[in-house]
Amino acid sequence: MFYPEELVEEVRTRNDIVDVISGYVKLQRKGSSYFGLCPFHNEKSPSFSVSPGKQMYYCFGCGAGGNVLTFIMEYENYSFPEALKLLADRAGVKLPEQEYSKEERRQQDLRTAILEVNKTAAKYYYYQLRTEAGKPGMDYLKNRQLSEETMQRFGLGYAGKYSDGLYRYLKQKGVSDELLRQSGLMNVDEKRGMYDKFWNRVIFPIMDVNNRVIGFGGRVMGDGKPKYLNSPETKVFDKSRNLYGLNVARTSRKKYIIVCEGYMDVISMHQAGFTNSVASLGTALTSQHASLLKRYTQEVILSYDSDEAGIKAALRAIPLLKEAGLTARVLRMAPYKDPDEFIKTLGTEAFQERINQAQNSFLFEVSILETGYDMKDPESKTMFFREVSKKIAGFEMEVERENYIEAIAQRYHTSFEGLRKMVLRYLMQGEVPSRPEVFRSRKAMEKEDGLLKSQRMLLTWLTEYKGLYQTVKECVTPEDFTTEFYRQVASLLFEQLDLGELDPARIIDHFTDAQEQKQAAQLFHTQVPVQNDTELKKAIRETVGKVMEAGLERQNAELDTTDMAALQRVITGKKRLQELDKLHISLE
Ligand code: GTP
Ligand code: MN
Repeated sequence: MFYPEELVEEVRTRNDIVDVISGYVKLQRKGSSYFGLCPFHNEKSPSFSVSPGKQMYYCFGCGAGGNVLTFIMEYENYSFPEALKLLADRAGVKLPEQEYSKEERRQQDLRTAILEVNKTAAKYYYYQLRTEAGKPGMDYLKNRQLSEETMQRFGLGYAGKYSDGLYRYLKQKGVSDELLRQSGLMNVDEKRGMYDKFWNRVIFPIMDVNNRVIGFGGRVMGDGKPKYLNSPETKVFDKSRNLYGLNVARTSRKKYIIVCEGYMDVISMHQAGFTNSVASLGTALTSQHASLLKRYTQEVILSYDSDEAGIKAALRAIPLLKEAGLTARVLRMAPYKDPDEFIKTLGTEAFQERINQAQNSFLFEVSILETGYDMKDPESKTMFFREVSKKIAGFEMEVERENYIEAIAQRYHTSFEGLRKMVLRYLMQGEVPSRPEVFRSRKAMEKEDGLLKSQRMLLTWLTEYKGLYQTVKECVTPEDFTTEFYRQVASLLFEQLDLGELDPARIIDHFTDAQEQKQAAQLFHTQVPVQNDTELKKAIRETVGKVMEAGLERQNAELDTTDMAALQRVITGKKRLQELDKLHISLE
């Protein structure tokens, strides 16, 4: 659904950010802003700020930031339309109804109907587990040390001995055969007609992030085969886009999410207090799973079984997680088979210890690689280092490469310089050297960081001191900013200031990508400690100078000497820069 910009802006401006966030976070006034404990990371002293003037929030601790819409999206894990809906309802703004084609409506109705059948089936299984006939199921689950509370929380159930229990129950509720077929709950064959897919098994309902039952897993109560039966994919059940336990894990607000192999692992992890655990649905982790995880966390801890299959699964998952922008670490369970067994034997604290020790995914990959080489044989050992160097050369950032070279050199007792030369050789060979970044020195990078900070400070001040723009616009234009993103934000801000309509929160809505929204918020929340107005004015003057200088340098480099107007601009700019100490700065 596309909502016109004016409507989005109306919803946003009718929801005061301090009002809205106060409903989630305890805020206290400090100067012109409000402060509280950041809901997006764990902290003891408040670094989360909400500015009524800018209608934005920003956390000086973790860098979370944005306007009232991004806050709801981040806090509730909502999509943009969902957040807009919540705020529209809150402010009494009516959103236009989405228009569906006939076919879309039919599909939508089918999905709703399947979800409804699933819910009914889940209730049926849940109830069966608690009857006399459900005793085998109950005994099995108790035997696996699940508490009544855990069974309840996961809605565990039981499918009885007869293969038509659910069929008869749903028919009696008036569900059509066609809908039953679409639900994946039934088997159909010519001889027997339609009958229950699940019987004589304990049942694990599978829920999506909105707690809707989308499918089921059923486990034999013993050693039969297959161990698990899962619902087939249906209109509402896409195994590559859902994760078992994510409905709970997403609200756990831990720094990371733990990905395990099986349903039982997730359940016993949650029972032990690791409510941030999930598992894929009997399939390997996919890139869609990775992007789904990225919506809720920055870091994933892979906690797969310690057997060969588990190691393979981890090696396959790592690149997918990295691709999605997640950090991955790998937990070593050995000598135990899986989290369930580990926790039952060694307990919660020992498991937490293993989480803390979980290995960085690159070092994990290297340690698996190592097992393929005879490290006592010099030739084989050299080949191993070559492979590792090749991998290190694949990292984009120099700092990252240096850190890994250091870690590997230390771990395998080899010389840092030697390894570094090897990495450099691969860098030269590959397509990598075309990236200028590779050759940039640390110093140049620091200088650039400093410059970007000056540009952020200037943008922040412009949103805080009304009178400043009159002076600044004489010296600085959006073109003076050094990255495309900064130029874009600056030109949006300058435009508002020209019209006398300062509204930084509105600029956030120009960006659809959450990362960009966060970055934009950061540009308006860069602080420098200054004691008084005199110092502040001095800092502003210096900063304006720095930004001008860099802008001139950039324009100089791109200068077309036949373009007289451009030449004139550079000359005037240089002159202004020299007279900077005469610049009058008004904060009012
Ligand atoms: P327990 O062995 O009871 O502790 O369960 P688990 O969840 O640890 O199972 P396991 O480690 O054997 O398998 C991991 C996951 O793979 C399970 O949770 C299922 O999703 C899936 N799986 C296991 N066995 C089968 C099977 O026979 N068929 C299918 N389709 N999926 C299976
Ligand atoms: Mn297992």
